[in-house]
Amino acid sequence: MKHRVGLVGAGGIAEWGHLPGIRDCPDLELVALCDIDPGALKAKGDKFNVAPEYRFSDYNDLINCDIVDAVDITTPNDVHFEIAMAVAKASKPYALEKPVTMNADQSAQLLSATGNLASMVCFSYRFKAAVRFARDIVSKGQLGVIHHVNTQYFQAWGGHENKAPLLWRFQKDRAGSGALGDLGCHAIDLVRFILNKEYLSVCAHNGTFTKKRNLLNGEGTGTVDVDDFSNFLVEIEDDISGSFQITRYAYGRNNYQRIEIYGSKGALVYKLDEEPGVDSVEVCIGDAMRESFTFAKLPTPGKHKSDQMQSFADILNGKGDGLAATIKDGHKNQVMVDAVLKSADECKWIVLQ
Ligand SMILES: NC(=O)c1ccc[n+]([C@@H]2O[C@H](COP(=O)([O-])OP(=O)(O)OC[C@H]3O[C@@H](n4cnc5c(N)ncnc54)[C@H](O)[C@@H]3O)[C@@H](O)[C@H]2O)c1
Repeated sequence: MKHRVGLVGAGGIAEWGHLPGIRDCPDLELVALCDIDPGALKAKGDKFNVAPEYRFSDYNDLINCDIVDAVDITTPNDVHFEIAMAVAKASKPYALEKPVTMNADQSAQLLSATGNLASMVCFSYRFKAAVRFARDIVSKGQLGVIHHVNTQYFQAWGGHENKAPLLWRFQKDRAGSGALGDLGCHAIDLVRFILNKEYLSVCAHNGTFTKKRNLLNGEGTGTVDVDDFSNFLVEIEDDISGSFQITRYAYGRNNYQRIEIYGSKGALVYKLDEEPGVDSVEVCIGDAMRESFTFAKLPTPGKHKSDQMQSFADILNGKGDGLAATIKDGHKNQVMVDAVLKSADECKWIVLQ
């Protein structure tokens, strides 16, 4: 069945991710668009052929529009909660960008309001074939008992040389947190997804290198009150010890991810963007590789290929593969993000409830 989608938040990720994804999915049709910025609404409405009468500035009008079956929410973080709650109250399914909300109180309310409605949280890296391959290798026990997982998610664009202005991403009341909520929440989700294990506790160090940035209107500077980097140690169930390094200040890195997993019978390294845009898995498994300290890249089987918006359509059609994140995963993620912030603020380990 083809589902008619209304999208709220016609900005960057909508333009280069969601809207082309909906357009290219045979089971979805973009029928309505909403943005508070008239310029963005017109530009994306024209580009993706949305009829002028279905272009809205108020998300309630889009949600309550009869021709909208499902809603895709791609606004900044501060309005995810109110929009997703309105969608859930209208009993419509939704896809929601990450981080799901501003805090775990909100995500718990959203989880409860969603009930049995279909939902997808856009932890997009779950759709990387190498990530699914890594999960498969771990789930088959090929690494034995897992002891360590070390994770890096590095970008460079926050660095001084790039002179990024005071975007909403640098403001706590709009973003919730900085590199942590932007990049770290993906990394937190990826490790949980690949290992299929839950976090138990966390100890974090967050920091901000650039405390003032130019205002967008060019008139002076404003204060950055979110983290530029977030480093944390984690305890994961089944005695797994992990570490995370998350930063927007990694010179030379575009969208670099690396997850190393060390077990009793093997080791695995998932990488993204070491070669531009490429996701891959390397392993060291078996005595010969262990004794020669060798890792080898494995070809990723084609069966692990997937697509985010097709997955949303599959969920709506009741034939999801169960691998996309739902609001339940989004809430667990938010609990962890809150714990990282609390740990960094209070300089102590935080046990997750
Ligand atoms: N999954 C990923 O890999 C990924 C990548 C980038 C961004 N994101 C997430 O996507 C979201 C949007 O990020 P972005 O980079 O596209 O931001 P953006 O600033 O480029 O776009 C956001 C758009 O939402 C609009 N908007 C703001 N408030 C609104 C409201 N109340 N109603 C309707 N429209 C509203 C803005 O006018 C803007 O056009 C964020 O939550 C971000 O974390 C996810």
